[in-house]
Amino acid sequence: MDRFCCFLKCIECGQEYSPQEVIYTCHKCGGLLSVEYEKSKIPSDLDEIWKKRPLSVWRYAELLPIRNKEKAVSLGEGGTNLNRCKRLSEKLGLKRLYVKNEGENPTGSFKDRGMTVGVTMALELGMKKVACASTGNTSASLAAYAAKAGLECFVLIPSGKVAFGKLTQAIIHGAKVIQIRGNFDEALKIVREICSKHLVYLLNSVNPFRLEGQKTAAFEIRDQLSGEAPDKLIVPVGNAGNISAIWKGFKELYEQGMIERLPQMIGIQAEGAAPIANSLKHSLTTVKFVKNPETVATAIRIGAPVNWKKAVRAVKESCGFMETVSDAEILEAQKLLAQYEGLFVEPASAASVAGLAKLIQMGQIDRDETVVCIVTGHGLKDPDIVLKRFRKPVEVEATTEAVVQAMTSKPQAAQVLAS
Ligand code: F0G
Repeated sequence: MDRFCCFLKCIECGQEYSPQEVIYTCHKCGGLLSVEYEKSKIPSDLDEIWKKRPLSVWRYAELLPIRNKEKAVSLGEGGTNLNRCKRLSEKLGLKRLYVKNEGENPTGSFKDRGMTVGVTMALELGMKKVACASTGNTSASLAAYAAKAGLECFVLIPSGKVAFGKLTQAIIHGAKVIQIRGNFDEALKIVREICSKHLVYLLNSVNPFRLEGQKTAAFEIRDQLSGEAPDKLIVPVGNAGNISAIWKGFKELYEQGMIERLPQMIGIQAEGAAPIANSLKHSLTTVKFVKNPETVATAIRIGAPVNWKKAVRAVKESCGFMETVSDAEILEAQKLLAQYEGLFVEPASAASVAGLAKLIQMGQIDRDETVVCIVTGHGLKDPDIVLKRFRKPVEVEATTEAVVQAMTSKPQAAQVLAS
């Protein structure tokens, strides 16, 4: 197949564009763009083709916009575990809970699924410079993939609001890191303007090619659940690209006859940064942005989500909904995942599980349903929050007696100081 088996289409007015054009939103109406495939060019035996390849983003090349897989800028992304969480299911009162651990990706977050495709696209388009605004993970991921591709990389981050591990990643991979005295929404506005005027390729989730990579999480879940979709798919929401991408993935599987039913999409936002969830709850026809978003889950500290229209469609088309969780609920879920399932995730990632716990309490999730929670990033990216929250380990003399005494005395090392 040649690369022109796909094209870009405005989700608002339907205007079509060539995939060779450097374009992020519709020139006619400003709408978001979606990557569409010529149905007649999609092989009918996708399952057979895919089964022969390892579980990974590139297993699904036929439904990705890059035709020459050999040229992919890849660090081995995707193929993350879908953990059957028996202890946590029991604790929450659910029969089948799975957690897809996106922290297993090369730079420790789901962003790598998008960047492998987005950065490969940057090369195809002949771009030499790439850029993004970020709450941390996007910058870490872009920096790594740009390094691999030999591209110059610029990242804009909100000063003092990016977890230490993520900042470290962007620096070591050689990106030009620019901290702005403002929040993520302001950073994104600036970088979009710069990329619209200069030969710098924008790799935020407004870039539709990046989202194509991220939709492979849906393909993998279907493969890991032996050809089925879950009843409910719960995902943390910030800029709202990932929930839109995953929904697109499930819809494409459905259109290909590869799943019999679609999951309900449930987006979870942090209480202090919940423009979409709150607007949906109040049945507003448009999303009211939050001016000063605030949450301990810095990755989703976003007040003006660029993909809100795609996300609202995903939720409505799937008969799903959005919910909010407090910072305390997020940190409790982070602890539960770590101490019941051995999964250490960053706070934003735990929002999906925090949402699940809340929804079960509210009676919105049935005990018999199959639920998949996406956890989006690795806990080691943001260790500060853990050290602030948990008691420091005890220190004793280097004698057997002192250690034995410490082992039997209370309080134990891993105790929560305060929620
Ligand atoms: N979880 C984590 C760990 C994230 O880093 C992000 C987004 C999200 C969830 C939300 O995903 O934006 O697609 O709704 N992080 C971006 C960044 C904004 O810059 O790293 P979304």
